[in-house]
Amino acid sequence: MKKIFKPTDSPVWEELAAHRQSLENISLKQLFSINSNRFNELHTSGAGLILDYSKNLITQETVGLLVKAAKSVQLQDKIDALFNGDYVNSTETRPALHTALRDSSGSAPYHAEISNVMEKMTDIVQQVHAGHWKGATDKNITDIVNIGIGGSHLGPMMVTNALQSYSVSNITCHFVSNLDSVDIYSVLNNIEADSTLFIICSKSFTTLETLQNAQTARAWLKSKLPIEAKDYGRHFLAITAHTEKATEFGIPEENVLPMWDWVGGRYSLWSAIGISIALSIGMDNFNELRKGAEQLDQHFRRTSFEKNLPVLSALLEIWYVNYWECQSHAVLPYVHNLRFLPEFLQQLEMESNGKSVNVDNNSVCYQTAPVIWGTVGTNGQHSFHQLLHQGTQFIPIDFIFELNPELDDHHNHLVANCLAQSNALMNGISYDEIKQELINTGIAEVDAHEKAMHRHMSGNRPSNTIVFDRLSPQKLGALIAHYEHKVFVQSVIWNINAFDQFGVELGKMISLQVYETLTGDKTETKFDSSTEGLISLYKSAIK
Ligand code: F6P
Repeated sequence: MKKIFKPTDSPVWEELAAHRQSLENISLKQLFSINSNRFNELHTSGAGLILDYSKNLITQETVGLLVKAAKSVQLQDKIDALFNGDYVNSTETRPALHTALRDSSGSAPYHAEISNVMEKMTDIVQQVHAGHWKGATDKNITDIVNIGIGGSHLGPMMVTNALQSYSVSNITCHFVSNLDSVDIYSVLNNIEADSTLFIICSKSFTTLETLQNAQTARAWLKSKLPIEAKDYGRHFLAITAHTEKATEFGIPEENVLPMWDWVGGRYSLWSAIGISIALSIGMDNFNELRKGAEQLDQHFRRTSFEKNLPVLSALLEIWYVNYWECQSHAVLPYVHNLRFLPEFLQQLEMESNGKSVNVDNNSVCYQTAPVIWGTVGTNGQHSFHQLLHQGTQFIPIDFIFELNPELDDHHNHLVANCLAQSNALMNGISYDEIKQELINTGIAEVDAHEKAMHRHMSGNRPSNTIVFDRLSPQKLGALIAHYEHKVFVQSVIWNINAFDQFGVELGKMISLQVYETLTGDKTETKFDSSTEGLISLYKSAIK
């Protein structure tokens, strides 16, 4: 017998399990045919986002039970705790206050510190845009290079790309994250040293990839600009929670913007970590981005769970992961400028909720975060959608599209394709229908059978669709906050801490040991035979 998902003692989990059984033979097609009002009943909106969740394997009863489950874990209290600055990051005894970074009421924790940094950030952005921030040889800044990784890269990179049409200056933004030097040299080879500003983003200022790239940038700058050491400072900014480490690296203290341990890296684009966004789209647009997130924060805090975008999205994912055994969730934006959103969401969701121990220090006996993946539509249709339609995996999807960007026929086709995909996934096409069509064209029954076997599509594959008028800073802010809160709600249901990431540490430590062996004279064996064998292949190759 299958083990019931039961994160707490509440009977609601059994009720959900029984309800899941009652839906065993449910068909989305049927659900729509018996209720012509289904879309009206199962969509909601907030902060300019509309969530259509009608194409899910649910009824009103499912929503009621899922909401009951959320209430049974005191979700509202947990949401309030998040906003109030309680120590929701229990393993590191600190709050997770990304919501304070976009609060405009002045009542959120750390208001004064945040305002100071925002003022300093505004000043730097204005100086650069006005041409008052000069390089060491008195040139204006034309290129900025954001050096960071994980949360110090993905958020700024995703947002800057998403809002490229809002760019207010002639400054070109580059993003370097990878340890492979091809990444940094592909940027360095195309910029001029005397008009470049490097922004070293690292909350810890200890991250190997970032420090290695920052050192390469510094050495390159020195080789290009034979100037006094003190003047290199004009070409570097740092954003970090460890100012002393940035100054040790040689960045003048006045060029270091602080962040804080109460902001998680993957939630940090709203802090000074977002300065490359602001340098691209201007501070006004950056503030619009924050405003959109704040509007979604208000929606999240104040809207009943039945109408609450992040709560519903989270509960639906719980429904699929814990009651339908789904292992992954695809995010498919039909918005080219959101092409980096799936990558951003991978860190947001998998680094937050890829856990197997709960906040009470016990192993969990149920699935937590699914694998998040996806790409931009329609590109995915010509690669992996085959598996979505006919594969053996059952993969819920988030489709995203804009209602009203600069309209042209590309966009009409784009939206038509997005809607066609969710429709085809939901309705499929039956064996009988295909076979009959083939027979009608004169094909013999036996051949029609063979062909129909390969061409029929089961359908019944669920999806959400998120829409907004156009991808503005405000809407993007709301969209990101929506996903941040979705992840938080899931962590509450799974009873895990969404704000630590100890799982990334062991590999970092071993890499330093391997590095010593690769580059030093050490010959004694300390790894397994596979790792040793590969090390010796590498050492012979570089001799
Ligand atoms: O290794 C994981 C991680 O710590 C992420 O959580 C973080 O976003 C990234 O590395 C970068 O960290 P930092 O900003 O401290 O360089």
